[in-house]
Amino acid sequence: MQTQIVYLKPPADGALPDPTGTFKVVQSPFDTAATDHQPGEVLVENLYLSIDPYHRFGLYDPAVTRSQFPVTAPGTVISTYGVSRVVRSANPDYAMGDLLYSWVRWERFTIVDTPNLQYLQKVKAGIDPVHYLGPLGTPGLTAYAGITQVARPRSGETIVVSATTGAVGMVASQLAKALGLRVVGMAGSDEKVRYLVDELGLDAAFNYRTAASLEEALKEHCPDGIDIFFDLVGGEILDAALTQMKLGGRIPSAGMVSQYNLPHDKRYGLKNLHSIVGMDITIQSYRSASWEHLFAEMRAEFEPRLSDGTMTFKTHVVEGLENLPAGFYGLFTGQSFGKTVVKV
Ligand SMILES: NC(=O)c1ccc[n+]([C@@H]2O[C@H](COP(=O)([O-])OP(=O)(O)OC[C@H]3O[C@@H](n4cnc5c(N)ncnc54)[C@H](OP(=O)(O)O)[C@@H]3O)[C@@H](O)[C@H]2O)c1
Repeated sequence: MQTQIVYLKPPADGALPDPTGTFKVVQSPFDTAATDHQPGEVLVENLYLSIDPYHRFGLYDPAVTRSQFPVTAPGTVISTYGVSRVVRSANPDYAMGDLLYSWVRWERFTIVDTPNLQYLQKVKAGIDPVHYLGPLGTPGLTAYAGITQVARPRSGETIVVSATTGAVGMVASQLAKALGLRVVGMAGSDEKVRYLVDELGLDAAFNYRTAASLEEALKEHCPDGIDIFFDLVGGEILDAALTQMKLGGRIPSAGMVSQYNLPHDKRYGLKNLHSIVGMDITIQSYRSASWEHLFAEMRAEFEPRLSDGTMTFKTHVVEGLENLPAGFYGLFTGQSFGKTVVKV
């Protein structure tokens, strides 16, 4: 049986992607022995699928919010990275049973057609396959490029990483720590804050939801100011960080997840942007896709750390493809803890 998460209609401007109104679970008969393969194509069964905040971009009305991501058409199935097993192959490079890191869709079975063959990679023996959706995949590259290419830290500097228990934040904060920085994190629950200090070994962390003042929390944990604010959230948190930046501070801006589900005219208006002039701050937006040439270098750095335990990574597993829409909703409401993957 095939199961697909079909996109129904966009959430209202700024609304959260309500699991039942935005998507529909569709099942249909599927005979894996009778798929119509073209030469070179591969039929895979998806074992784990990635759900990511950027999927929200495809659901915007382009007349209201512009973005580099193509608009997702109602009635279609969203594309994503996955870990998949080959079920049938018309390609000499892939055999039945091979475990692959793949570019597939929010569905159980995917025929990987010719344009998407370039994304297939065999999962290396001895590596947790789910790590390909985290530290060894796009989130890892986003963290690696943001730290090494955009932030360019010097040992001893202070970095604040936002969305620190998310996929990118966990990797960025541990890399920064390994490079000799003082690392401060933040999260939306006390349990997550404890994880950051006790498990990831950060120097300090705070609960951004319960802090009486974000500015005071940053001041308390960064008494000498912030050299680098690794921004994954935007909004009020970015605004508070702007008030605490040191002269010549850097702000790699990879995401603004706090703003993704707000009406376009209710998004947070920054009040402290003048600091970029007053303190000579560089804000640089970037996307991981621009740094794909660093993939091998990033993996060479992270694979041994994951194997010897000097880097750790927490996964939030959503059980069952039919629960994917609820898992997607959870990315924006604090329900996820770690990188969310769907176990199909
Ligand atoms: N530029 C790129 O190429 C690129 C690539 C990947 C990701 N990103 C961006 O990086 C950011 C994090 O992505 P991810 O994949 O690491 O996330 P993730 O693993 O899906 O986790 C979601 C994170 O967002 C945080 N969050 C959700 N709503 C928030 C809010 N209103 N205020 C503050 N934090 C909030 C959550 O923190 P709590 O649970 O503590 O609330 C959690 O840490 C997103 O903005 C994403 O778009 C950019």
